[in-house]
Amino acid sequence: MPGASPTPIALRVRDLRKAYPRRGREPLLAVDGVGFGAEAGQVVGLLGPNGAGKTTTIKMVCGLIRPDAGTVEVCGVDARRRPRDATRHIAAVLEGNRNLYWRLTARENLLYFMGNRGRSPRAVSPAADALLERFDLADKRDALVADLSRGMQQKLAIAVAVLAGTQVLLLDEPTLGLDVQTGDEVRRLVRELADEGRTVLLSSHDMAVVQDVCERVVVIAHGRLVADERVETLLRLFATRAYDARLGAPLTAAQAAELRRAFPLVSVADDGLHVRLDLERGDDVYRFIDVLRRERTPMESLDRVAVRFEEVFRHLVNGEGPANGDGPARGAWPAGAADATDAAREEVARVG
Ligand SMILES: Nc1ncnc2c1ncn2[C@@H]1O[C@H](COP(=O)(O)OP(=O)(O)OP(=O)(O)O)[C@@H](O)[C@H]1O
Ligand SMILES: [Mg+2]
Repeated sequence: MPGASPTPIALRVRDLRKAYPRRGREPLLAVDGVGFGAEAGQVVGLLGPNGAGKTTTIKMVCGLIRPDAGTVEVCGVDARRRPRDATRHIAAVLEGNRNLYWRLTARENLLYFMGNRGRSPRAVSPAADALLERFDLADKRDALVADLSRGMQQKLAIAVAVLAGTQVLLLDEPTLGLDVQTGDEVRRLVRELADEGRTVLLSSHDMAVVQDVCERVVVIAHGRLVADERVETLLRLFATRAYDARLGAPLTAAQAAELRRAFPLVSVADDGLHVRLDLERGDDVYRFIDVLRRERTPMESLDRVAVRFEEVFRHLVNGEGPANGDGPARGAWPAGAADATDAAREEVARVG
């Protein structure tokens, strides 16, 4: 087949823009040139601080808001030219509580929405019951949605979206307000969907969820794309520079001042015995050791810090690249620092 690729792009978004009109002021540019793709079998996180434009982006992708510019392509279908065909491949759980009919029961909602998609209630019934069971909603199947708790409504909304069986699933903060156990269940479900080859775009402020389920993240701030990278790659890039040093004697004030001048993000524990710092380049470790050596401060250990995704995210939205503060980049940054740990261990052995 001409143009066929081994991992088909299920979702392709190009240069999306949306400005909301404001009374007496210039329009608010909520999304400003955002573009990304998502493959079959991929879970992509859409991240960004409050007001970054995530929900607006998701609403444009599922056709709820018309973009001012840009294109959305779902399973090869151009959403502007063939909106109905495009939305056939998408199911979404949006922010807030408008995903369900409150006057219908839990089970009726599942069957109603499937009917909307042209599926027969009889055919989807077993899968609907299985999902109710899975989300611990079996005993609420005949309760009105209006009478469900907020978390139960959220679970049901996710069940409705999953049951649709679409290639692409958009989940806007799916685990918000869910108890720990249900949150785990949703994560498990998302991973299963990806294993089945489905594509999930999810927004979340919970970085543990992101680190746990997302293969890739698209980060936006002030409506603009600041990163589009594999989670693993981001963690690796940032991890190469964060070090924790344990000292055999407290750092002097002069040494601390010198370190702060020489390296970014230096923090010294109150006891003066622990130093966290960024060693950007391979030879930075020697500069650090020189500072210690001057006062004959022994170093007991120097370890790379396991970077949590939360820190990576903070750096990204503050416009700090991983290696040298080059700032945000579309795609990959220049390779980070070489691993200085081995060289440092040798030095520690000599100095200590
Ligand atoms: N219907 C609307 N009318 C006017 N402005 C809007 C509308 N919806 C969103 N905005 C504005 O657009 C910007 C982006 O909002 P959006 O809801 O997309 O952000 P978000 O990234 O989803 O944030 P959050 O993390 O808080 O959910 C915000 O400044 C918001 O106030
Ligand atoms: Mg939002």
